[in-house]
Amino acid sequence: MTPWSPDSWRSRPARQQPDYAEPQALAPIARRIGSLPPLVFSGEVEGLKAELARAEAGRAFVLHGGDCAERFADCERDTIVRKLKILLQMSLILSHAGRRPVVRLGRIAGQYAKPRSSPTEVVDGVEMPVYRGDLVNGLAAEPAQRQPDPQRMLTAYHHAATTLNFIRALTAGGFADLHHPEHWRLDFMAGQPRQAAFQQMAERIHDAIDFVESIGALRDGVLDRVTFYTSHEGLVLPYEEAFTTQPPRRSGHYNLGAHFLWIGDRTRQLDGAHVEYFRGIRNPIGVKIGPSCSPAELVELIEKLDPDDEPGRLTLITRYGADRIADYLPKHIETVKATGRRVLWSCDPMHGNGRKTRDGVKTRDFSRILTELERAFALHRAAGSRLGGVHFELTGDDVTECLGGAQALEEADLTRSYTTGCDPRLNYAQSLEMAFRIAEMMRAP
Ligand code: PEP
Ligand code: CO
Repeated sequence: MTPWSPDSWRSRPARQQPDYAEPQALAPIARRIGSLPPLVFSGEVEGLKAELARAEAGRAFVLHGGDCAERFADCERDTIVRKLKILLQMSLILSHAGRRPVVRLGRIAGQYAKPRSSPTEVVDGVEMPVYRGDLVNGLAAEPAQRQPDPQRMLTAYHHAATTLNFIRALTAGGFADLHHPEHWRLDFMAGQPRQAAFQQMAERIHDAIDFVESIGALRDGVLDRVTFYTSHEGLVLPYEEAFTTQPPRRSGHYNLGAHFLWIGDRTRQLDGAHVEYFRGIRNPIGVKIGPSCSPAELVELIEKLDPDDEPGRLTLITRYGADRIADYLPKHIETVKATGRRVLWSCDPMHGNGRKTRDGVKTRDFSRILTELERAFALHRAAGSRLGGVHFELTGDDVTECLGGAQALEEADLTRSYTTGCDPRLNYAQSLEMAFRIAEMMRAP
């Protein structure tokens, strides 16, 4: 294998990169990012890897979620609190049902870059570059806003740092209240057949927390500190390279811009720049696997990205769509089994289930998302494998972007509060309901 360095990806074809008008502006900005304090430290990154190794072995479960496209404007107190709160509540439901700790991994504090299916779009008769995430250009449909601007990398660093600073403050103390299911808003379930069952589950969690608190575990730091990790798609490689460093007293390079990074389904070419960059960093990493991934490619991806079969290193995040999962997942499970390698399997039931309404609005149906998850659990069980995690695009806000759920959102509701910069997200109620439904799946015999 050729030698790796933080910039060895540059000799490979890189898809989905911004087309900067002045690429020479990149180098000083990247140097500046590299000289600023890292966002995370290598000990935390290794800590996450150890937790993911436990999930791989069936002794933990991973909840991965957050925005599709995080916006700089999302870097404000209430939005962050609500996002953390829903993830924390979901994690309690899952750990109670699965009787296992849940690893909380946010698509947050850096999820600023998006792969797109076409480089330009036409809005009101005007052709312009597509929005590629706040890291690259502006969302507003104006040609000037859509010009990629390298300065945005520095702005991204600062917003990620501010977001993470607040997350650390919230999780280190004063956030424990959110453990209390009496603060959960279950009113959206009113009149639903499952209302009583979910209420009961919430009460049992409440009792369990009460008990743990009564024996002094809160004082001892068991419940008052919450571990939370950050992640984003490693897409814009000059940005990722800028965070890549060899920490003192460690061998190897780490990307210290996030704890976990993943390669998207559009950029996992075996000879491409992304696989080259990812193979050399020591972080735990993920790869999105869709229907276009052949078994032979999957084997090579695993060999390139996890040559030492390191526990916790590699998560395969599958995203086929509810209708296609049965055609692809069993083959992919068999392929991995035949290699004898360990991986962590996670299910992203969002990205294979997107569709457009007749009005051209991007949406996803709660029921299709649920179906892909149910099938993922069942297919893993049938193959003697194990689903170790789930991956969602969600928000703690009351948006109307996905259809269905207990609130029975319909196409006409989509105009009410549709604020995503890219793909439709589950709202607070849909996310909480999803967690209760997964809890049922985890308990199924
Ligand atoms: C995403 O996670 O937002 C995404 C673009 O996913 P995928 O690479 O699976 O399409
Ligand atoms: Co998305």
